[in-house]
Amino acid sequence: MESIQAIKQRFGIIGNDPKLNRSIEKAIQVSPTDISVLVTGESGVGKESIPKIIHQLSHRKHGKYIAVNCGAIPEGTIDSELFGHEKGAFTGATSTRSGYFEVANEGTIFLDEVGELPLTTQVRLLRVLENGEFIKVGSSKVQKTNVRIVAATNVNMFEAIKKEKFREDLYYRLSTVEINLPPLRDRKEDIHLLFRKFASDFALKYKMPTVKLTDEAVVLLLKYRWNGNIRQLRNVAEQVSVLEQNRTINANTLQNYLPNTGSNLPAVVNNSKSEGDFSSEREILYKVLFDMKSDLNDLKKLTMELMKKDSDTDIQKDNAHLIQKIYGDEKDEAFEAAVEDLEVLSIPEHTKETSEETLSHLTDKYDFAEEIEEEETLSLHDKELELIKKSLERHGGKRKLAAAELGISERTLYRKIKQFDL
Ligand SMILES: Nc1ncnc2c1ncn2[C@@H]1O[C@H](COP(=O)(O)OP(=O)(O)OP(=O)(O)O)[C@@H](O)[C@H]1O
Ligand SMILES: [Mg+2]
Repeated sequence: MESIQAIKQRFGIIGNDPKLNRSIEKAIQVSPTDISVLVTGESGVGKESIPKIIHQLSHRKHGKYIAVNCGAIPEGTIDSELFGHEKGAFTGATSTRSGYFEVANEGTIFLDEVGELPLTTQVRLLRVLENGEFIKVGSSKVQKTNVRIVAATNVNMFEAIKKEKFREDLYYRLSTVEINLPPLRDRKEDIHLLFRKFASDFALKYKMPTVKLTDEAVVLLLKYRWNGNIRQLRNVAEQVSVLEQNRTINANTLQNYLPNTGSNLPAVVNNSKSEGDFSSEREILYKVLFDMKSDLNDLKKLTMELMKKDSDTDIQKDNAHLIQKIYGDEKDEAFEAAVEDLEVLSIPEHTKETSEETLSHLTDKYDFAEEIEEEETLSLHDKELELIKKSLERHGGKRKLAAAELGISERTLYRKIKQFDL
């Protein structure tokens, strides 16, 4: 008997997974018999190679092998396709035609997607399975055939039976032996092996160097769900081989070819990302406000010094209301209102702690800046008052002389006297 490795090579089956090997072994074992086989497994797992192995290793190998996709044939013509029809059986039936069961006599029929068969066709099929008998559409003559039937399905047959879409007796007839092919995600060892094989096939086909995966990309390849199994893996290998200029494929690049990679990540990653964005956005806002406030303080100090140095009193006089507005009320209402606004922003419960911390940290900083400013203003105020007092004393209360000594106009001095209540 041919070894399992030789069979795999002959039928182009890649992989060393024990479950895959077991399935192939089963196919080899049942091949010399006429037992009906039902091949099960998800879409794209490679079910189609099993009936080929069974046929080729059986005494029927010189007979016909016909694969029928039961899901692809319209309901109205499937009986005629499978069992044939008599001339005039229906409109367009211009001549008698043999069906697959007649043609495949002494051979094998592979009924792919058998779960899709209409119930009426299921009755006809059951009869063939039980005694090899069938009747052409539009005929009353019973014919005999000797056909080996291998069926395949990617749907849950028990559910189909429960929903009365599939006959239970037919199911047991078809599945005397069931060969199940494991999904790709349960064949981790084979995933990279298959990718390398497909990549080298496509490199040859498209005359390009073979793509190679980085270690991280291999990890991603193994972690992926592969709902489309080997068919999907081959498509990904083809797309990457054709579309990527750089022949070394990293995880980021590979991710672009794997749909729903995001949904494979824990949901918490997404949540914490948005929370992080939210609190960092608030921090940026606070920082901008704080920076603006400290810039404003610097500007005030600078203007104050310039005003003091400048003896041109007209500037002060002409801008008196502005000076009053800027220096008169040291509380920055706009800033405080903005901070308040930020505080009342609806903060999700889980971020509240962080934002309150940030807020108190920033307002501490802000208060601190205010203190420094107040201290300095206070000392300036004191010094100014002291200077004016001394100058007035020196000149016997004569404002004109005092103003000249202080380098300010008489009017400014007058205003200062009133302001300081001298
Ligand atoms: N072990 C394997 N090694 C190499 N190629 C494979 C292997 N298994 C499957 N393939 C390839 O993957 C593709 C899908 O396989 P196949 O058509 O047999 O899937 P299926 O199980 O019949 O899926 P569906 O239920 O959708 O019909 C085919 O091109 C097949 O050649
Ligand atoms: Mg198939």
